[in-house]
Amino acid sequence: MEDYDVIVLGGGAAGLMCAAVAGQRGRRVLVLERAAEVGRKILISGGGRCNFTNIHTAPDRYLSANPHFAKSALSRYTAQDFLTLVERHAIAWHEKTLGQLFCDGSARQIVAMLLDECAAAQAQGGHVDIRCGEDIAEVAHAGGRFDVTTPSGTRSAPALAIATGGPSIPKMGASDFAYRLARRFGLRIVEPRPALVPLTLGGEDVLFRELSGVSAPVEARCGRAAFREAALFTHRGLSGPAILQVSSYWRPGDAVAIDFLPGMAPDWLVEAKRHAPRAHLRTVLAERLPDRLAATLAERIGLPGDLGNLPDKGLRAAGQRLADWRFHPNGSEGFAKAEVTLGGIATAELSSKTMEAKRVPGLYAIGEAVDVTGWLGGYNFQWAWASAVAAGTAL
Ligand code: FDA
Repeated sequence: MEDYDVIVLGGGAAGLMCAAVAGQRGRRVLVLERAAEVGRKILISGGGRCNFTNIHTAPDRYLSANPHFAKSALSRYTAQDFLTLVERHAIAWHEKTLGQLFCDGSARQIVAMLLDECAAAQAQGGHVDIRCGEDIAEVAHAGGRFDVTTPSGTRSAPALAIATGGPSIPKMGASDFAYRLARRFGLRIVEPRPALVPLTLGGEDVLFRELSGVSAPVEARCGRAAFREAALFTHRGLSGPAILQVSSYWRPGDAVAIDFLPGMAPDWLVEAKRHAPRAHLRTVLAERLPDRLAATLAERIGLPGDLGNLPDKGLRAAGQRLADWRFHPNGSEGFAKAEVTLGGIATAELSSKTMEAKRVPGLYAIGEAVDVTGWLGGYNFQWAWASAVAAGTAL
């Protein structure tokens, strides 16, 4: 039996960060990772360039049964803190849009940085041991110690951090392991659901699937959430950043409203009639939207002929419909395509300062495994870093 101060289950974003922080505080840390290499989601993130944080990080950009839970960790380890780390490792970066920070080079630099930070534990009297290809067979808890058994042996520590993420993208090895383990310790789970996920269309909306490949800047709304970004029609329904964002707020049965021309005055079509009475609806739409989308919208609205021959009332109604086009998604593309998971280990079970389970001293949960889910755009990694630092400085 090998003894450690801390065992971290999962060598992803949160697990590696937590191990580095605890190691640099002199702890002997073991990271057990099931995959053949660590940080696989980091490697594929942001199209291979890793959108590693967002400078607009704020608690209201996270979904959780307790919207206050993330405040403490996010305020004690900020986007600027992570950026300082990135710069200390001389990783070149850029802001793409909406505060989203990416590596200029490759996401591999972020994984290498985290591994360097783990190695730096040595200089502080600590040690981080990373073992890949380790399938966890059993976790026992007795006498204040956690014994973790894999086919290669049993290791023991007084502290255990669950950092095995959520079930999104099972083909990358993602699973509900964190929830099963947490339940065994009596922790409650908020029902997991796919988030940041494309939505599927059927019924009346099915015709829009013919627009597969067409994208446009829109405002997408679901309930009180509204996002002004691109929407993309796919052969199954709707995707693109605006749709991924609202998908986290969408529940089966909800409508998704799209404003195809955000920022236009309510009676812009009446104005267009004054300026170009011989134009057709399709033509004026095509001046502002991709041609195929303009054609489909004009066809569905009706109103054939010159604008000059159409009543203002009809044009106003058409303008309103274009600003509030209702889609009724019949589902989502599920965990197979979801970038993250909503729900997870209930925050009510954890200390917001340390991420330690209130009822199981020594047990911690961090990252996506916890019921805290960020918007698209670097927010989820920032939660992984911040929750990992909260735990790493406590255990
Ligand atoms: P993460 O999933 O990173 O790590 C969990 C680790 O545990 C994995 O290495 C896994 O193999 C391991 N594991 C699982 N079960 C285990 C077991 N039983 N035993 C041992 N190990 C086990 N976010 C963002 O902010 N910016 C972005 O650009 C992107 N881009 C992006 C693209 C794609 C395609 C996806 C799928 C996701 C993103 N994300 C993102 C989300 C981001 O990847 C996610 O929020 C973090 O990786 C979560 O970090 P965790 O460490 O919690 O889990």
